[in-house]
Amino acid sequence: MNNKDMYKRPLQDLRISVIDRCNFRCTYCMPAEIFGVDHEFMNECDLLSFEEIEMLATSFAHLGVKKIRITGGEPLLRKDLDQLIKKLVNIDGIEDIGLTTNGIYLPKYAQQLKKAGLKRVNISLDAIHNDVFKGINGRNVGVSPVLKGIDAAKRAGLGVKLNMVVKKGMNDHQVIPMASHFKDQDISLRFIEYMDVGNSNGWGFQHVMTKKEILNQLTQHFDLSPVDPNYFGEVAQRYKYQDAIGEIGFITSVSESFCSSCTRARISADGKLFTCLFANKGYDLRDLLQANSTSQITNEIQKIWSRRDDRYSDDRNEANTSRKKIEMSYIGG
Ligand code: GTP
Ligand code: 5AD
Ligand code: SF4
Ligand code: SF4
Repeated sequence: MNNKDMYKRPLQDLRISVIDRCNFRCTYCMPAEIFGVDHEFMNECDLLSFEEIEMLATSFAHLGVKKIRITGGEPLLRKDLDQLIKKLVNIDGIEDIGLTTNGIYLPKYAQQLKKAGLKRVNISLDAIHNDVFKGINGRNVGVSPVLKGIDAAKRAGLGVKLNMVVKKGMNDHQVIPMASHFKDQDISLRFIEYMDVGNSNGWGFQHVMTKKEILNQLTQHFDLSPVDPNYFGEVAQRYKYQDAIGEIGFITSVSESFCSSCTRARISADGKLFTCLFANKGYDLRDLLQANSTSQITNEIQKIWSRRDDRYSDDRNEANTSRKKIEMSYIGG
């Protein structure tokens, strides 16, 4: 079955958000002033059930999806997540399942997730300095619980990557300390350009630390060389150290967009399909689920994907950055 969109990009990855809540309030994602006590999150009854997610994932696998990533909010706030992983692992064609998390609950869940079939976790950590990190996560949480989460993931045998969003004036002085801290560990530390997702984080071009600026800092301290991509559509551009086992990467949505190889579909926790991180409209899959078989759902998704012409980052400019978009915590990053 054809699984290409208007720009001939195959559907290969599915990112599934399982909850829109988070225990953090990172300033660049869910600023506490906006995501306050009276913020309306999804009701539990609005979340797709694990059975519904399994049925959708099976339909996506029929269209060529091989990789699934579980996201949130904070996905480990979803009860019994290991039960979902167990279901997804058994779907024909699914080769890889990852999870993106802030790491706090990994000491509790890493082993059971690994046992269920999870392979990898991407853990967010934006600073290695306690006070800087406390200021960013909006919950006054220090670095130590995240480091414990990283350790727990490694001990459980999960692959670990780290995500550091770098924003000017927030944590650009943490690039070298973070690289120094992790360079001797078997971990990929990815520097992410601050993106204009959603409409709550007060984004502006002037806040973006580009790959070039970050790499300039790094090359003054370390001997780095680029590494070839592992596969078509890999998001991070990777580099290795000449004299250390660690690796770094750059996710350059702003300065070097990667829409031409974007093979990712996203499902929100309430069952809407988004064909771009910066979309403002999703397709409701819940209705489809009620009335249709897996093969009918596959046909519908194929139709939606075949009409896809998203390339937001390729076209990013002053005008479209302020248009209405879905929040990161809703769509799952
Ligand atoms: P791997 O499979 O380990 O490479 O996962 P990943 O890097 O694709 O996933 P992760 O959830 O760790 O995302 C890291 C960062 O990349 C987040 O800030 C995402 O929002 C961003 N990102 C991932 N996919 C896309 C995309 O298609 N477009 C844009 N603009 N950003 C993306
Ligand atoms: N720009 C770039 N990355 C972001 N993330 C959340 N908000 C933003 C943003 N505005 C990152 C998180 C997490 C991943 C899912 O997305 O830090 O690592
Ligand atoms: Fe939560 Fe991740 Fe957003 Fe921070 S970046 S508020 S940890 S979802
Ligand atoms: Fe894909 Fe949209 Fe990101 Fe471009 S901006 S890489 S189309 S999700």
